[in-house]
Amino acid sequence: MAAIQDLTAPFSAAGSDTLSLTPGLKPGAPVIPACAPENLGDPAFLRAHGLGYAYVGGSMANGISSTELAEALGRAGMLGFYGAAGQPIAEVEKAIDRLQSAALPNFGFNLIHSPSDPALEAALVDLYLKRGVRLVEASAFIGLTLPLIRYRTAGIRRSADGGIETPNRVIGKISRTEVAARFFSPPEEKFLKELVSRGELTPEQAELASKIPVAEDVTAEADSGGHTDNRPLVNLLPTIIALRDRLQEKFNYAVPPRVGAGGGIATPEAAAAAFMMGAAYVVTGSVNQACVESGTTDLVRKLLAGAEQADVAMAAAADMFEMGVRVQILKRGTMFAMRANKLYDLYRTCGSFEEIPAETKTVLERDYFRASFDEVWQGTRAYFLRKDPAQAERAEREPKHKLALVFRWYLSQSSRWPLAGDESRKLDYQIWCGPAMGAFNEWARGSFLEKPEAHDAVTVACNLLAGAAALTRLHALRCQGVAADSRLARQAPRTREQLSAFFRN
Ligand SMILES: Cc1cc2nc3c(=O)[nH]c(=O)nc-3n(C[C@H](O)[C@H](O)[C@H](O)COP(=O)(O)O)c2cc1C
Repeated sequence: MAAIQDLTAPFSAAGSDTLSLTPGLKPGAPVIPACAPENLGDPAFLRAHGLGYAYVGGSMANGISSTELAEALGRAGMLGFYGAAGQPIAEVEKAIDRLQSAALPNFGFNLIHSPSDPALEAALVDLYLKRGVRLVEASAFIGLTLPLIRYRTAGIRRSADGGIETPNRVIGKISRTEVAARFFSPPEEKFLKELVSRGELTPEQAELASKIPVAEDVTAEADSGGHTDNRPLVNLLPTIIALRDRLQEKFNYAVPPRVGAGGGIATPEAAAAAFMMGAAYVVTGSVNQACVESGTTDLVRKLLAGAEQADVAMAAAADMFEMGVRVQILKRGTMFAMRANKLYDLYRTCGSFEEIPAETKTVLERDYFRASFDEVWQGTRAYFLRKDPAQAERAEREPKHKLALVFRWYLSQSSRWPLAGDESRKLDYQIWCGPAMGAFNEWARGSFLEKPEAHDAVTVACNLLAGAAALTRLHALRCQGVAADSRLARQAPRTREQLSAFFRN
């Protein structure tokens, strides 16, 4: 297997053992170019964010992408986002304290669009601005919002060299071209006018803001865990890159926005493919949830370690439930997908709880809620009276809204039960997960990474990057007409120690 090491050692030229496995390759003929993990992706992305590697751990709600995960990736020269969605503001502030005191080259926070709770989005932006959080991953946006533009443009100024400086950076995460176009474009005039009229921007700053893209980086998110349109990466990424090129031609920014790839990336092959297709960086999610640093429980990690390709399903989402939005979850070992989708069907077809057939009402109260509809409503009402009284009042007037709020109670609790380790609710666990998990498990099968307790995020990341670099070299060999032995393509999991020669951190 010395031959395989030749390919995986990104700095060396191909050695004689490689030649013996690759008939047709003569010394001095085809060349295997060097490719180090740090050379994957767009160097401008690395420079912009002060990173060593174009590898990003995406936000995972409820603190599943924990401060520990962001710290581990950050210390390794990669980028991690804290999963602020679903977390109380006080928890997010604690995470800011922790990450700001960790002296990392970089880290970021999630800014998730919350159409059902716009005050929360505004409060998060207030907090990020107050605490000097300089990078957000903006996700689940349909149209862009004033708080997002406020964050992006705050403190914008002319730099000494005549360019435009923005203290706050946005990585937009999208799966639709129309949303991508908004991130690649300058902020809409209506938002800039509003910020000027509120005294948040000067007219000169608004003028500068009309010359920059909302996001300098946009992640094309394909079939992933959590919110997803299930788009194939091979189609989505080129489409978003082409859109970026068109809009760059139109706006002629000093620095063209970059396009990264997320969704389905949990193996060296997938990472290599994304980089080869032009991704400026890769974003992982599902596989990080299965890592020891994530803010979930060992039980969930164990369930994830057993997942295969087809063990995921789409289920009605708690946020944006009424709009029919769905999330991708782990199907194996739970009944959550079936139950969540049943609730959405009932919501679509019934105007109130009373309209639901009697037998179904019994099943809902006995198996789903484990309480009567009225008991759940009383708890939900009390929650909304504290947080957003207009919702509770509307539900008293509109029985269908009451139905939605009670169903959303079940859907939001179901993602908390696994985190609380409530095994009595195992069948209702809502564990966000994409098909990447099954691909990872297949790749890790039989190796030390098969055990959930051995998954640490940086070992996984280094394996994906080193493996992708080796596969890129192998591809270059094949492009020169060499029939390379298929064993060269197997990038078996390696320990950090085995990989240490290829990484600086
Ligand atoms: C458990 C879990 C929770 C997630 N929560 C969020 C979130 O709150 N905000 C967000 O922008 N993306 C969220 N995502 C998406 C990830 O940040 C990432 O973009 C995605 O998981 C990448 O695709 P993959 O799952 O195929 O690796 C979540 C993904 C998972 C698996």
